[in-house]
Amino acid sequence: MDNISVSTTDVRIERHANQLSRQLKLLRDKLFPPLSQKTLRTFSSGEAAQMIGVSDGYLRQLSLDGKGPQPELSQNGRRSYTLGQINELRHYMAKLKPKDALSYLPWRRPGEKLQTVAVTNFKGGSAKTTTTLYLAQYLALAGYRVLAIDLDPQASLSSMLGVQPEFDLSDGDTLYGAIRYDAGRKPLKDIVRKTYFDGLDLVPGNLELMEFEHETPRALNDRQKPAELFFRRVGVAIAEVEAEYDVVVIDCPPQLGYLTLGAVCAATSLLITIHPQMVDVASMSQFLLMTSDLLSVVRKAGGDLQHDFIKYVVTRHEPFDAPQSQIVALLRSLFGDDVLTATILKSTAIADAGLTKQTLFEIEKGQVRRSTYDRALESVNAANGEVLAGIHKAWGRT
Ligand SMILES: Nc1ncnc2c1ncn2[C@@H]1O[C@H](COP(=O)(O)OP(=O)(O)OP(=O)(O)O)[C@@H](O)[C@H]1O
Ligand SMILES: [Mg+2]
Repeated sequence: MDNISVSTTDVRIERHANQLSRQLKLLRDKLFPPLSQKTLRTFSSGEAAQMIGVSDGYLRQLSLDGKGPQPELSQNGRRSYTLGQINELRHYMAKLKPKDALSYLPWRRPGEKLQTVAVTNFKGGSAKTTTTLYLAQYLALAGYRVLAIDLDPQASLSSMLGVQPEFDLSDGDTLYGAIRYDAGRKPLKDIVRKTYFDGLDLVPGNLELMEFEHETPRALNDRQKPAELFFRRVGVAIAEVEAEYDVVVIDCPPQLGYLTLGAVCAATSLLITIHPQMVDVASMSQFLLMTSDLLSVVRKAGGDLQHDFIKYVVTRHEPFDAPQSQIVALLRSLFGDDVLTATILKSTAIADAGLTKQTLFEIEKGQVRRSTYDRALESVNAANGEVLAGIHKAWGRT
């Protein structure tokens, strides 16, 4: 009897799952001990001055005068600041020079509505998570209050931001906790957690997000609760914490399910990632058709489908690859300004981030070859700069 049950597929797969999970845990404990908290590097006074928008000399004088947060001093007298201290200095400067406050502290002002950027494409591996992560960190480094939401049950964004979905989360600790249909629902503020990155908070993801995909068809059939519209739930949850943030960035799963539709409806703008390869672009036209079909159903049911901007971002771009160049040219000729001018370059430094769990913003400059690092970072900053310009435009800033 036992022999038969051991060989059935469910039992076999369960055994594989357990073996794999044990092995992964061992590996992770070795690479990244559970107790080791992720921390962000400090910034040299030159970097800090540039980020705040003052001169290095001015920053030095402040610290000599004992004003503002005190930087760490290395043995050779070099000053370095944490991102938290840089943000304190932004507040300090904004208070000191109220006329220029906005240039030091770029938080949104009354009348400027929360911006929610959904990063999407149902194509797996089109760099959605990487794009979300870099955008979120870019905005946080620039002094904005950012909430990153991991809507992907695979939770790669969460693990990049220092949360290990299998170990650090219990029931209801993902967005699912705030959008579920039953009485177990809790406020989003109880789910949001701080990250090691000052100004960047996270709503983590894990497999429980799948529940929303399963429960929504049931809720749709439940005529007792017609108000429970699935496509409003993500937006309603975000609205509960909106006062705390300037920008929300959502990493969508690689499916056009209810979670993605909810994110698209909650969003004020969309960022559609494209890996410029024929196979990917071919499936993209399918993606666009399906998205448009589904969205028109949602719109007719009362969903909000006004977006301040929709941009395509070319990622993992190899500018010297001829077929890629043709595809990028094609996209530009078809979609014009809707394609970001800057593309995110393919770079091993970015790819390695998945292994070391560090982005280009996090690694010390000496860690990778300088020229590769500079080129990749420039491309990331240029693309994110265009997204930020779109956000500013939506706020009516010039
Ligand atoms: N600019 C880049 N240069 C090199 N590698 C990259 C770049 N962007 C992403 N990658 C790598 O490509 C792979 C897929 O990226 P990512 O996980 O961001 O895609 P995704 O769209 O979120 O995938 P999924 O659909 O599985 O959620 C990852 O291994 C990532 O490290
Ligand atoms: Mg992803």
